[in-house]
Amino acid sequence: MQTPTISEDTPIIDHDFTPEIEMGLLSQSPSISPKFLYDPLGSHLFTAITLLPEYYPTNTEKSIFTQYQHQIADAVGVGGNLIDLGAGNCQKAESFFNSLKPSSYLAIDFSEEFLQEAVNKLQGKYPHINMQCIGMDFSRQLLIPRSIATSNRTFFYPGSSIGNFLNSEALELLRQIKSQANEGGILIGVDLMKEDAVLMAAYDDPLKVTAAFNLNILRSINSLLGSNFRVDQFRHKVQINHVQNRVELYLEALEDLIVTWPGNSREFKKGDLIHTENSHKYTIESIKQLLKSAGFDKTQIWTDPKDYFAVIYAC
Ligand code: AVJ
Repeated sequence: MQTPTISEDTPIIDHDFTPEIEMGLLSQSPSISPKFLYDPLGSHLFTAITLLPEYYPTNTEKSIFTQYQHQIADAVGVGGNLIDLGAGNCQKAESFFNSLKPSSYLAIDFSEEFLQEAVNKLQGKYPHINMQCIGMDFSRQLLIPRSIATSNRTFFYPGSSIGNFLNSEALELLRQIKSQANEGGILIGVDLMKEDAVLMAAYDDPLKVTAAFNLNILRSINSLLGSNFRVDQFRHKVQINHVQNRVELYLEALEDLIVTWPGNSREFKKGDLIHTENSHKYTIESIKQLLKSAGFDKTQIWTDPKDYFAVIYAC
């Protein structure tokens, strides 16, 4: 299969999100894609979430990365080309620079402004690593610039971001990664199923940072769509779905209201929900199966003592 490539100066986020947002808002079960959580303020709020003691994924993943740093480097190999999917503030990738010694680093994220700033800072700190960043919605299609060597590629997909996708979408993304990794592989972090109380504390934290993060999507949508959502008319709501094995985030209308935007409107009754995010939780078996279906036959797995989170190198 031909590897899709893009030229260096192609602007990736140039499309109009209006149809996608409208379709979600006008649907019978209204929804907004979680990628719209990450406007500049949302990206900072997410960073704040990762600093909460209740948000175990980040600190648990970090402890696994630290404890197994050498084993992970042995599995991945040094001096390769690191491709960071959903790089955000790039901190996780940076924590591997000493052990993996990548020759190039490509950071990809939906939130282009936030990413650009992070990569500029990082390049100053690591002048010998060839760095590039692109704003891209890789949930649609994953395009790797021509300038990135095709050999020794490692896709880095930490934080259980894969959990935002339905299994079918995750499979499609992993297949694309497999086809573009060539002889390389993927280093992925996935969140494991656990007791409800731990999940609830992580997704409905007492400081209400996650509530702010979730509610901010309405402001992000207002600026993209020209709508007039009022944040004070909604509340953050978390549900655990034991059939689909996921945490679900919603915004619940606190009163009857109408939201309007150029060319359309939508009525919400008190108690109506807007679905904003799924965060799928896996078992070792379910994630191995998913990776295998995508063509990754070999896996090495590291976990924490409580089995809250798993880090996997697959090729
Ligand atoms: C970035 C998708 C992994 O699902 O835990 C954190 C996002 N949402 N708190 C997650 C999130 C609410 C996060 N991911």
